[in-house]
Amino acid sequence: MQVPLSRPWLDEREAEATRRVLASGWITQGPEVAAFEREFAEAVGAPYASACSSGTTALHLALLAAGVGPGDEVVTVSYSFIATADAIVHCGATPVFVDIDPVTFNIDSGRIEEVISARTRAILCVHQMGMPCDLASILPIARAHGIPLIEDAACAAGSEILWEGRWQRIGGPVADAACFSFHPRKVLTTGDGGMITTPHPEWDRKFRQLRHHGMNVPAHARHKSPQVIFESYDVAGFNYRLTDLQAAVGREQVRKLDQIVERRRHLAARYTGLFTGLASTPYEPEYARSNWQSYCIRLDGRKPQREVMQALLDRGIATRRGVMCAHLEPAYPPGSWRSADLRQSEWARDNTVILPLFPAMTEAEQDFVVSALREVLS
Ligand SMILES: Cc1ncc(COP(=O)(O)O)c(C=O)c1O
Repeated sequence: MQVPLSRPWLDEREAEATRRVLASGWITQGPEVAAFEREFAEAVGAPYASACSSGTTALHLALLAAGVGPGDEVVTVSYSFIATADAIVHCGATPVFVDIDPVTFNIDSGRIEEVISARTRAILCVHQMGMPCDLASILPIARAHGIPLIEDAACAAGSEILWEGRWQRIGGPVADAACFSFHPRKVLTTGDGGMITTPHPEWDRKFRQLRHHGMNVPAHARHKSPQVIFESYDVAGFNYRLTDLQAAVGREQVRKLDQIVERRRHLAARYTGLFTGLASTPYEPEYARSNWQSYCIRLDGRKPQREVMQALLDRGIATRRGVMCAHLEPAYPPGSWRSADLRQSEWARDNTVILPLFPAMTEAEQDFVVSALREVLS
C-alpha cells in the first residue's frame, strides 16, 4: 500500500467548471474570480475578499497595505513555511522572530511584547498547520501599539476560532487581513492561488489595484464597457492575478469545504484515538477548532526524526518533518533577522513528523500508517 502525504479532492465537478470557462473565451481574471471572491467571503464570514496568485503574494499585498516598507520590522515566527518571512523581506523589511508555544506550535503570545520596537510596523501571526493561534491574546497587543495584525491563514480555510462567545471561521472580521493559500497541500486548492480577506474596504481596494499592475479599472470591466475607457496606472503594481480557470476550480472547492473539514476532523480524531500510548498527538486549545490541514506528532526522543521518516517511506508512507525554521535556512543568515530566543521552534522542527491526512484517505490506509509507526517506534 502506498500512502501519499496529501491528495486534493478534485473530480468531474472541477473538470466541468474548467470546461465552462474555456468555452467562454475569457480565461484570465474576470467573472469567475469575482464569483469565487463572493462565495469564499460568504463561506468564511468575511466582509471583503480579493483573490490573487498565491498565499505568498497575498501576504506581500497585505503587508504593503499595512504600510510595511524598507527599514521596518515585522513580528512573526521563524517556525513557518519560508514564504511567511519572504513576504516581509519582499517589502524591504526585517523579520523579527518570536518563539512558538511548543504545545500549540503557534506564536507564543506572551513573548511578543519583548521584541516590539519603534520600527515594528505589523504583526504577522500564522495559524500553523490549520490550528488557529491565540488571536484574543495577540490582537490587544497589536491594538495597544497601534500596529496592524495580519493573519497568515495559508493553511486555515475552514478552521474556527471562538471569538466573542461564538465560533467563527478564520477570515472573519477579527484582525486587519487574513491571507489564504490554495496550493494543492492546502485544504482547498486551485493548483496555485491565494485570497485575502479584510474588514477594511480601503485595504480591499488596494489589493485589487496592486494585483493588477496598479490599474484603475479591472480588465473585464473595460472589456464589457459600451464606452471606450482609457485606463490609468496610479501606483506601481504587480501581476498577482488569479485566472478565471483557477477560480472556477476554487468555486467547486468552496462548495466542498464543509465536507472536507468534517472528513479531516474525523480522520484526525481517529488518529488521536489510535495513537494513545504510542506517540504525542496534537493539542487543540479550547478557543480553536482546527481544519487539520496537517496532523503533526511529537517523537518525544524515541527515535531520530529522519530515521522514522525513512522507515515509513520504505514502507510506502510519505511524511514531512514538522515545520521548517526560516532562520536556519541559508536565505536567512544572522543579521538578516532579529529574535530573542528560538529554542522551541528549533526543537519542534527536529522532533515532529507530519503524517498523511486527506479527505479520500481510507480507514485501512490510516490503520496501515498507525501500525507502521508502531513497528518503527518499537
Ligand atoms: C504558513 C504558510 N504561509 C504561506 C504559504 C505560501 O503559500 P503559497 O504556496 O500559496 O504561496 C504557505 C504554503 O505554502 C504556508 O504554509
